Amino acid sequence: KEQIAEVSSFTTDNLDAVEAFRIKYLGKKGVLNDFFAEFKNVPNEQKKEFGQTINQLKQAATEKVELLKQALEQNASEEKLFGDLTRPGNPTELGARHPISIVKNKIIDIFSRIGFNVSEGPEIEDDWHNFTALNLPEYHPARDMQDTFFVQTNPDILLRTHTSSVQVRYMENNKPPIRTISPGRVYRNEAISARSHCFFHQVEGLYIDKDVSFADLKQTLQYFTTELFGKSKIRLRPSYFPFTEPSAEVDVYWGLETETDYKMTKGTGWLEIMGCGMVDPNVLKNCNIDPEIYSGFAFGMGIDRIALLLHQISDIRLLSENDIRFLEQFKSSL
Ligand code: PHE
Repeated sequence: KEQIAEVSSFTTDNLDAVEAFRIKYLGKKGVLNDFFAEFKNVPNEQKKEFGQTINQLKQAATEKVELLKQALEQNASEEKLFGDLTRPGNPTELGARHPISIVKNKIIDIFSRIGFNVSEGPEIEDDWHNFTALNLPEYHPARDMQDTFFVQTNPDILLRTHTSSVQVRYMENNKPPIRTISPGRVYRNEAISARSHCFFHQVEGLYIDKDVSFADLKQTLQYFTTELFGKSKIRLRPSYFPFTEPSAEVDVYWGLETETDYKMTKGTGWLEIMGCGMVDPNVLKNCNIDPEIYSGFAFGMGIDRIALLLHQISDIRLLSENDIRFLEQFKSSL
């Protein structure tokens, strides 16, 4: 019985040791054969118990040998497949966020702090959401402001030329008060150069409630530019968009100490970063919002431009070339 306990607790990770164990118990001159030889000398009344015990021992030893062999063979084949499983792993290299994502996330973060949510719309749009609902009826001359890529004509399906299409979708599906920003990719049939591309990214902003004024718009933009660029001055220049009235273009001023750093300002210090205005009553009507009760503002800015500015990148094409040497440089940015 002692031997049974010994057999049960035996273990090893060495195939030779298993063989030695087998010989010790099950071999020709092994423990078991000794016990079997002993059997005839055991008094008759103890024969039954003795016989049962050595059979148990035999079974325990046979099973143990099988078990250990199987386990060791499996380890051996795993090791052949995978090598030493205890070796240290290869260090995984961390990637970097794309500068467009970095800037987009910053913008989302800044507006979410003042209660704006994030909304999205499709890149392939219909005429209504990209143009008509935004107060650009067919044959409106302002359609020429945007060189459109058409997917299909009549009915017109196109690659959206601005994220203002998401304003329309959001107003159609949500009741005021509305505070939302809509980041996304837009397309325009423009010659590709260091300064412009046929696709780029915008963030649209929309705020609709009772008694929203132009002062609210200006203060929101001042808050935004200060958060994004640090202490900054902005100016609003009168402009024209069919979907806002009045409309303005927003410039930020790069302070004197940075003016020479930012060659992109071309020496003036003022740089245009977005378009904005009070949502035209016609647009509200088109989206089933009563302009007698509600008013609001909208703005749209290019993310690529801001990314070039913040990271002092000289060519917009770098943003879509996927050159690892370029992308790697953003590892330290979040
Ligand atoms: N959609 C305009 C553009 O792409 C920007 C804009 C958005 C202007 C909202 C005013 C209000 O240039």
